[in-house]
Amino acid sequence: MKVARLTLSDRASAGVYEDRSGPEIERVFGEAGISEIDWVRVIMPDDRLAIESLLRNLCDLEKCDLVLTTGGTGPSHRDVTPEATKAVLERELPGFGEVMRMQSFAKVPTAILSRSTAGTRGKSLIVNLPGNPKAIGECLPLVIPAIREALKHLNE
Ligand code: MTE
Repeated sequence: MKVARLTLSDRASAGVYEDRSGPEIERVFGEAGISEIDWVRVIMPDDRLAIESLLRNLCDLEKCDLVLTTGGTGPSHRDVTPEATKAVLERELPGFGEVMRMQSFAKVPTAILSRSTAGTRGKSLIVNLPGNPKAIGECLPLVIPAIREALKHLNE
């Protein structure tokens, strides 16, 4: 399975701090027992058009089965990940974001601030995750069963 993980952060891409979110995605997959992955690893700034173009390449040319983004889902001015994602999706799967917000909200009231979404483009599944490494540990395990199932459907 070919999986791209995109850390979308002005500061991480500028080296202001270390990217701990991308490695956290890999850790959660390992913990779920999914180990045979060809990873494409990218860190880039919150630039909407550049993100859209990369998402198109990863789906259409690189043929990634799954593209996971982390960061840029909040309400601040520079947060553009959901807009870039929606611009390239053919079919939106709003349930991914809904479940992550709903399930996290009881423990973390600020979970409501993430506008993350998901959906398909061709045979690729794109899923937005919040940027905080702790949030990835809280959210990604919730949707791994649905990721597996969606990938099966996309390859039918
Ligand atoms: N969800 C969980 N489970 N845990 C968290 O700590 N942080 C929230 C939210 N979702 C958080 C979470 C916060 S504070 C913000 S601003 C949004 O995710 C968006 O984060 P992002 O812009 O880094 O994607």
